[in-house]
Amino acid sequence: MLSTTFVLLAGLASAYGAALQRRVTCPTGEQTANAACCALFPVLDDIQTNMFAGDTCSDAAHTALRVAFHDAIGFSNTQNFGTGADGSILLFGETELAFDANLGIADAFNLEVPFIKKHNISVADFIQFAATVSLTRCPGILQPPFMFGRVDATAAAPDNTVPEPFQTVDQILARMADAGLSASDTVALLASHSIAGADDVDPTLSGLPFDSTPSIFDTQFFVETQLRGTLFPGSGGNQGEVESPIGGEIRLQSDSELARDPQTACLWQANVNNQAHMASTFQAAFLKMGLLGQDVSKMVDCSDVIPTPPPLAAAAAAAFFPPGLTQNDVESACADTPFPNLPTAPGAAATIPQIVQSPLTAGDCDDDGEGCNFATFA
Ligand code: HEM
Repeated sequence: MLSTTFVLLAGLASAYGAALQRRVTCPTGEQTANAACCALFPVLDDIQTNMFAGDTCSDAAHTALRVAFHDAIGFSNTQNFGTGADGSILLFGETELAFDANLGIADAFNLEVPFIKKHNISVADFIQFAATVSLTRCPGILQPPFMFGRVDATAAAPDNTVPEPFQTVDQILARMADAGLSASDTVALLASHSIAGADDVDPTLSGLPFDSTPSIFDTQFFVETQLRGTLFPGSGGNQGEVESPIGGEIRLQSDSELARDPQTACLWQANVNNQAHMASTFQAAFLKMGLLGQDVSKMVDCSDVIPTPPPLAAAAAAAFFPPGLTQNDVESACADTPFPNLPTAPGAAATIPQIVQSPLTAGDCDDDGEGCNFATFA
């Protein structure tokens, strides 16, 4: 359950309210609740201007979000390893980028390392801060809170901490639980796949979106993963990929199975056409994820540094069946409640375009580790 995080969120909200009366003015001129947060404004200014320049919830934002998960999940409550959201994925990139599940994280190395080197905050904080700011490029997201003060890793996380798309629901939920994330947290976090795509699952195609609206944090991902799969965006037959319902869209086997498994099907369906539910459960679970393995009592609430996300009009948040598809195409799996009735979008079935790749994610660091200047952090 998310209850501890909701308590934390409520605490943050009241602390934020109290802090409004005693704000400090930073050397850069901005105001914030706590002087420690002043260190974040130059970072914010730099990444907004240069790292996410022109990125309206596209490749750079998606890359920054994914690496935050892959870093944080390197933690175990039962096996005594990892310090979670500790920067190890980049600090110990020579080890962690070689793990199968981290295929494509080289993009994040290319994107973030030049900026990390310019600023004097921990790598751990940079990764979660950049991900939090990346969310604010995405219409539909609720204002994300941010806690500051993570301690950097002193060792790499071990292999097999990041779930793989070909693993069973039991395996994925067990790994997430071991890190401190419940089944409902997991489904809540997978709302991130509504603003995401795959560059490496089909090795012949990059930027394949997981839903028809990969630059909007809306509930279409939960609608479209419940529709019968009929085609592959490319040749198909790739590990971790199953058929999707729309041309150009890729479906992960893990998302398909989480949508249909009795343990998670109703949690999944609860997001369909319920923007408020999806946004609030994601907000809480994302906060929790970014604190894994870290000592929250030593951290500072810097939520007021985070920019305001763009709004999503109610009409734009209304879920729909893609053109040509109807309720008959739903593979309903929640035993408790029928799948919501949705209108079919007008027009002919269209192929969803690939997500345009940012030049900033395509630097010298390749997926095979060639060209990555790991000595950066030595
Ligand atoms: C729990 C099981 C999960 C599995 C099996 C999984 C698997 C994957 C895979 C295979 C990709 C495609 C990578 C590529 O080929 O480029 C992907 C992309 C992505 N995932 Fe996940 N994921 C999971 C959870 C999460 C979570 C919890 C988050 C964030 C909170 C997340 C955020 C993303 C994002 C943003 C992308 C797009 C990255 C980009 O476009 O560069 N995923 N995921």
